[in-house]
Amino acid sequence: MIPDEKKEEVRDAADIVDVVSDYVKLKRSGSGFVGLCPFHNEKTPSFHVTPRLGIYKCFGCGAGGDVFNFVMEMEGVGFTEAIRELASRFGVFVPEEEEEPEYDEQMHLKEGIYHALRFAGLFFYRSLIEKDEAENARAYLKKRGLNAQTIKKYGLGYAPDQWDGLLKAAESAGVKEQYLQEAGLIKYGRNGEKAYDTFRNRIMFPIFNPTGKVIAFGGRVIGQAKSAKYINSPQTLVYNKSEVLYGIQVAKNEIRKEKEAILVEGYTDVLSLHQAGIRNVISTSGTALTPQQMRSVHRYGDTLLMIYDSDSAGQNAMIRGLNIALREGLEVRLLQLPEGEDPDSFVRQFGNKSFLEYKKKDSKDFITFILNKAQQAHDWDDPAHKKRTISQLLYSIAHIPDAVTRETFVLHLNQKVKVGDRALFEELGKKIAELKRDEAKEKQRLSRFEKSQDHGGQPRSEANIEKQATHQVKRENTTSQNGRTKDSQVRMASYEKEVIRLMLEYGRKMVEYIGKLCNADHFESENLKMFFEDIIKRYQDEKDISIDVYMSYDPPWPEMVSEIVMDAYGVSEKGMERTGVQVIKDSNPYKTAKGALKALKLHYLNRLKKDFEKAYQSSSGDEKIEINRLLTEVSRERMRLEVITLDELFPDPPQEEETGDK
Ligand code: CTP
Ligand code: MN
Repeated sequence: MIPDEKKEEVRDAADIVDVVSDYVKLKRSGSGFVGLCPFHNEKTPSFHVTPRLGIYKCFGCGAGGDVFNFVMEMEGVGFTEAIRELASRFGVFVPEEEEEPEYDEQMHLKEGIYHALRFAGLFFYRSLIEKDEAENARAYLKKRGLNAQTIKKYGLGYAPDQWDGLLKAAESAGVKEQYLQEAGLIKYGRNGEKAYDTFRNRIMFPIFNPTGKVIAFGGRVIGQAKSAKYINSPQTLVYNKSEVLYGIQVAKNEIRKEKEAILVEGYTDVLSLHQAGIRNVISTSGTALTPQQMRSVHRYGDTLLMIYDSDSAGQNAMIRGLNIALREGLEVRLLQLPEGEDPDSFVRQFGNKSFLEYKKKDSKDFITFILNKAQQAHDWDDPAHKKRTISQLLYSIAHIPDAVTRETFVLHLNQKVKVGDRALFEELGKKIAELKRDEAKEKQRLSRFEKSQDHGGQPRSEANIEKQATHQVKRENTTSQNGRTKDSQVRMASYEKEVIRLMLEYGRKMVEYIGKLCNADHFESENLKMFFEDIIKRYQDEKDISIDVYMSYDPPWPEMVSEIVMDAYGVSEKGMERTGVQVIKDSNPYKTAKGALKALKLHYLNRLKKDFEKAYQSSSGDEKIEINRLLTEVSRERMRLEVITLDELFPDPPQEEETGDK
């Protein structure tokens, strides 16, 4: 226990306005402050902070408490961790001591993960600065024009070119392997036996939350990419990619000052702009923009300037992001850089002054921006084209929550396109209705998993978790509306294809073997799920199962078969790295099956874990406790899969009957 007087010392030292301001844009009001409540969605501020009493209270949703409660709620940590964090931030010494029973298992785990991440951040940074072997990395950063100050401020680092550089260092510092694994910093090797570093020989970009805690990493290859340019941390208990903005810990105060956030695509864009003195800059790190990210921006400022790469992928992503930003009530401006430039290259070439001038001259409100583009792209006298563009713009305007602002934009559009405002308003009405429908659909999609059902107190085996999970958590479909998300598209993963291929190539006996060890829910790809089900059906109906059979099905089956079979000869190093499972060509097909099944299950559990985590966020009371328990079980099951050898995990097939007909 932390002694009471220490608690009070921390409470006195911690400035609640300062702490809350990391998350909420506060305005002075009488003797206190008000802002938009971070615990519920609201348009008018009902969240009050009273520094004299050291408390906050929301009159909208009832949330309230002291500075400790605030940190606990916002960061999902326990009481002790909240005290420790505030103590270190406000310079109060609190002695280390052993763990406390009051922790909830999840929170305990989170704190371990934070610790591992902090350790890794420091380790990578010191490697970059101090080690001889980091010479290449240093030279590369220098070539990119990044100076020591920027490197330090953003905590860049270097992951040594070793399988266990971090692992060894962590071990000797007493950082638990479990936490490294939960933080996504290490993985388990073939047959789950040996742990190794996730990031090797890469330049490391730590990703921080707004208060400056490391929550994840991106690792870039040095120089030209031969393999994936970036490897990023997986989602973990403390890292939800869709909420994060790279650079926010540095930019937040500048955004407050400038009342504007500059949004770019890449890590390096953030760094170069910052170094050039443009400091209100953040990035989505290559993923599609999300409402949560926009909410986070809105805590600090009201205007968003989007500068995406000038290529068409970048420009399309920008237009898609626009509506999400408008929905949040942000004022959005768009800027397109000259052909072939991104913010990083632009500012390094032309410097701060040109950048600011260009920004001033060329950034446009979204109506002007999109109209200009449409006029350049196509004959503006073509009425169909004009109509489409206007319709698109009205749909964007429909996203703006505030009616007066919407009206202003319609009038702005009216002047630009010379279409009567009555017609425009009428069309806007339709667009608002359309948007409502789209949003309702989206909401339904997201909340499908909330339809939980009761489940008594029966013990939970693996099968049990899975059964419940499939009821309680319906997988969301990955939407293509999310556009350029670089890694969220459901591909046909190699291990999923392997499972199907083995059944096709080795026939009934293999189908029987695999059919007992997994089920259709384990597949992420809808196509392969369908394939699996069809094979099982044929098995039950005692029909033939072979490549030829499926090649004679109607499209798209034959195409699927070729894709599945072809892939067998290209199970990539990447696949191996991702799953830690090596799929050897079938000198022993059952061994291959075991490897693929393991990967299949691991990935399935990872998805389950994510879904539970989401459900955890949006649940309360008993449900929350229940989900927490399930989460722990999923983690445990994952751990088991990772550490046990394949032969222990999966039995051998029944002995071949000696038919003697060879
Ligand atoms: N990104 C990623 N994985 C990839 C490629 C990109 O996560 N394989 C993310 C990174 O966050 C990256 C951003 O998308 O910063 C933008 O991609 P890109 O413009 O290719 O990268 P830059 O950071 O600009 O890298 P560089 O300038 O060094 O090429
Ligand atoms: Mn770049």
